[in-house]
Amino acid sequence: MTTRHTSSVRAALAAAVLATTLPPAAALAAGDAAASARGAYIATTSGCVDCHMPTVMGPKGPEKALSLGLSGHPESLVMGTPPALSGNWVWVGAGTVTAFAGPWGVSYAANLTPDKETGIGNWREEDFVAALRSGRHMGVGRPIMPPMPWELIGKMSDDDLKAIYAFLQSQPPVRNRVPDYQPPAVAAQ
Ligand code: HEC
Repeated sequence: MTTRHTSSVRAALAAAVLATTLPPAAALAAGDAAASARGAYIATTSGCVDCHMPTVMGPKGPEKALSLGLSGHPESLVMGTPPALSGNWVWVGAGTVTAFAGPWGVSYAANLTPDKETGIGNWREEDFVAALRSGRHMGVGRPIMPPMPWELIGKMSDDDLKAIYAFLQSQPPVRNRVPDYQPPAVAAQ
């Protein structure tokens, strides 16, 4: 499933990139279009899609909700108090693969579409690069929690991070206000 699934996600992303970068964005410099296409490839193969695009149950099992893009945890999906864990079970996740509870509290995959209010539409390229290098919101805010693998992603080259940014900004904005991160004390209530 994973292979078919991944290739269909990649095909859809590639189509989305083409759709958004060809006619209306013909104004985009050729370099930007190339960076965006490369960003789509990296976002798919480096896991961004896995956590930031909700997974839904389709007729053949779990599949990515392509129409939602990388809009993060759906605001309509209220998770409630996470189940108590014991032994070696230290974290749990939602079926959407967008909400996670563990010793760090409860974290929700962020909206990475260019919606200005609920996504990263107001982020500059340098904010995006700084966030992934420092593990802090826009490079200066609160620490970014697990399981967001910023330590790994932050080791990508400037060009790769900028390509991901170009790709994300070329996607259609999706309005979706992801719930706030809850620290452990709050999450346990
Ligand atoms: C294993 C799941 C997972 C993967 C893989 C993942 N993310 Fe995340 N990401 C998250 C979660 C969860 C958060 C929210 C963390 C928090 O609230 O502290 C997040 C937060 C972020 C943020 C911070 C948003 C903000 O408002 O501060 C950025 C930027 C981001 N991810 C980009 C990416 C990119 C780019 C990739 C792929 C290269 C990626 N993520 C891969 C789960 C993931």
